[in-house]
Amino acid sequence: MTTKIIMDTDPGIDDAAALTMAINNPAIDLKLVTAVAGNVTVDKTTANALKIVNFFGKGDQIPVAAGAAEPLIKPFEDAARIHGESGMEGYDFGDNYGHPIAKTAVQALHDAIMAEDEVTLVPTGSYTNIALLFKEYPEVKSHIKQIVAMGGSISGGNMTSAAEFNVFTDPDAARIMYESGVPIVMVGLDVTLKALLTDASLKQLKDMNETGQMLYGLISHYNDVSGGDQGRPMHDVNTIFYLLHPEAFTTKDLWIDVQTDGPAIGATIADVRGAYHDGKTNAKVCVDIDAEFFNKWFLDQVAQMK
Ligand code: RIB
Ligand code: CA
Repeated sequence: MTTKIIMDTDPGIDDAAALTMAINNPAIDLKLVTAVAGNVTVDKTTANALKIVNFFGKGDQIPVAAGAAEPLIKPFEDAARIHGESGMEGYDFGDNYGHPIAKTAVQALHDAIMAEDEVTLVPTGSYTNIALLFKEYPEVKSHIKQIVAMGGSISGGNMTSAAEFNVFTDPDAARIMYESGVPIVMVGLDVTLKALLTDASLKQLKDMNETGQMLYGLISHYNDVSGGDQGRPMHDVNTIFYLLHPEAFTTKDLWIDVQTDGPAIGATIADVRGAYHDGKTNAKVCVDIDAEFFNKWFLDQVAQMK
């Protein structure tokens, strides 16, 4: 039984690793990739998504659509300082990596979701495309099994002391997503800063195979130092790890509100006492993870690739 998913993404080096895991795992049926402005501009995130899809020869099977170039309201701020100017420094994918489909991301998302009884959305960038989709086509919500979203945090941010990058980039879109009523799994910094890819694991990638060399090249140029000297946070990969191994995670059902203004803009606020929403919750929040299993799983997955 495969899980049908759509990835909405801003490659981005950790997004590239997440796409790699999704494309190559037989338990996952990746129906569509949509790109959004985030780590770098949307022209670059779209090109980077195409580079990964075509690196694995899936250009004819997995469509890529370009999405929003700007957040809904908040001015765009990229993360090129972390991922490089191209968004995927460290490996030469050549120039022949195909083209995005003619549809916009919102149209492609609508058509792909409505073609299925149930599909899982996996956003690993800002949620601008998803917010625009829900505003234009609310009928898609009943066809979405769950949203497994990288983003947010209930234990401090990485863009400010309060806000994580994907939510910080477009807090208004995040609020629309968290108020949508669609089941959400929040894969935030609470776990992605624990499941660090160690230097020992990274070194093993280098001599493993072509995919290992590609990921080694990218991750060696990945300037996210929020894991200190313990390793590199593969934030987005944790969404795919959750889909395949939910048993490796500890979760809490909580109500998440999103701050959309002021100094704490982009903060995801958890009603941890259940005091302000009549006991209702809108997210399954990942609060712990088996980091050792994550490292072993990451290497085992890549070892089976080209
Ligand atoms: O905060 C980490 C998130 O921001 C990841 O998705 C990374 O790719 C960047 O988009
Ligand atoms: Ca990302």
